[in-house]
Amino acid sequence: MAAGGFHISNDQKNHNSNGEYKKIVYWVCIIAALGGLLFGLDIGFIGASLDTIENVYHLGIEGGEQYAAVLATGGIVGALLSGIFARILGRKRSLVFAGFLFSALSLWSATLPSIETLTICRFGLGFAVGISSFVVPLYLSETAPASIRGSMGTLFQLMITIGIFLIAAINTYIAHVVSESTISLPLMFLVIAIFSLIMFFGSIVLPESPRWLMLKGRRNEAEKVLNKVLNTSEEIQSELKEIDDAIKSDKGAGIKIIFKGYFFKVLLMGVVLQMFQQLVGINMMIYYAPKIFGYAGITGLLAAMTVPTVNMLFTFPAIRLVEKWGRKKLLYVGSAIMFVTMVAAGLTFASIGGITDPSQISTIPKAILLISVVLYIFGFAVSWGPVAWLVCSEVFPLEGREVGMTVTTMVNWTFAGLVMSHALTFMNSYGNHMIFYVFAGFCLLSMLFLKLFVPETRGTTLEHIEENLKNGKPLRLIGEK
Ligand code: BGC
Repeated sequence: MAAGGFHISNDQKNHNSNGEYKKIVYWVCIIAALGGLLFGLDIGFIGASLDTIENVYHLGIEGGEQYAAVLATGGIVGALLSGIFARILGRKRSLVFAGFLFSALSLWSATLPSIETLTICRFGLGFAVGISSFVVPLYLSETAPASIRGSMGTLFQLMITIGIFLIAAINTYIAHVVSESTISLPLMFLVIAIFSLIMFFGSIVLPESPRWLMLKGRRNEAEKVLNKVLNTSEEIQSELKEIDDAIKSDKGAGIKIIFKGYFFKVLLMGVVLQMFQQLVGINMMIYYAPKIFGYAGITGLLAAMTVPTVNMLFTFPAIRLVEKWGRKKLLYVGSAIMFVTMVAAGLTFASIGGITDPSQISTIPKAILLISVVLYIFGFAVSWGPVAWLVCSEVFPLEGREVGMTVTTMVNWTFAGLVMSHALTFMNSYGNHMIFYVFAGFCLLSMLFLKLFVPETRGTTLEHIEENLKNGKPLRLIGEK
């Protein structure tokens, strides 16, 4: 599991006979939620703070982009190393470590150090995001009672969008009430530090994952943890047996699995899927919407809050729609909506292209732009946002799931970084409208890719998908029953 860890467990048995969970289970859920929240807080930080950062550090457009994008570089390295951390340090200690990094680096950033140090801090925050986005869902799937694992996976995805929303709202408020940037910027970092400290101290009291303990041969300790989490001794024994079986059949093939034809094929599909998740342009909007709206004369609360609010609200229906409509249909609909709205936004910018004073722009183009952006974010939030992660968590055969998730997550971060570090300079060099056409082009291409290569995985077991893949079925058919 990885960033955006949206996972529907396919072994959802109700282990809780009396329907009640022990206190520690709530902690497990809260920490997991915080892992997702911090992911969102760090992604969403830039949108409403770019001007404040600019006032303090005078970075210019390119410098601002570089600062925003270094989070993605940290994310790539974090995602690469997260599997090793989880295996060697253990799940719990990896979470404590991520919580520590989040806390220390946000506090350090709040001291307004040199821009070089601030950039290193943001790299480190990205690294912590990379680690926790892999370890949190993994820890959950191994520790939370089976009956709540599925909804916990969805919670993680939701928390990312809530984090993006929350930090946009808080930073907008701080920027509004504290006019001195050298005071407001530290306050913005301190908000992240507070949530980070809760995660840090909270994860210290968490139990270690029973599965990891069993992997290390520490059966007694695993039993003690299960004792804390589950209610009856039957539940504990059946879970221990399940873990035993799972460990026996976990062939964890390592990196050499890439050379197997069937795996390489599905890996390529996952890679391109994650590439398109970014090339449809979402992070241009998440990071720079206030700036882009500003180019069209839309400012204030509308510019700051439209994208994070729509993004958060429409992640909720996605959770139900992936099961009702299926993954592929949702992705198609999302691509189509994003294509149309990107073209509309591009045409609007083209029509106002010559105006140098944004306050002179009339209401109609502003309204069209606003509606296009709202619909675009809606299109992403109900489809590609959660579904790209979901499909990646479903298509890899068990022995290559870790490798598959790691590689596809790194690809996601790589393309996120590319978009973050070039979107604004591209607009400045080629005209504001051009970038919308480029992203519209990718939306179109993504539909072709969906048609040719992406399977519908709704309602099929992961084992069945694996069987189809190994039997040489074409990729787009591996979800067939
Ligand atoms: C994407 C992120 C994006 C977020 C927005 C995630 O699924 O991977 O890059 O910022 O959605 O909600």
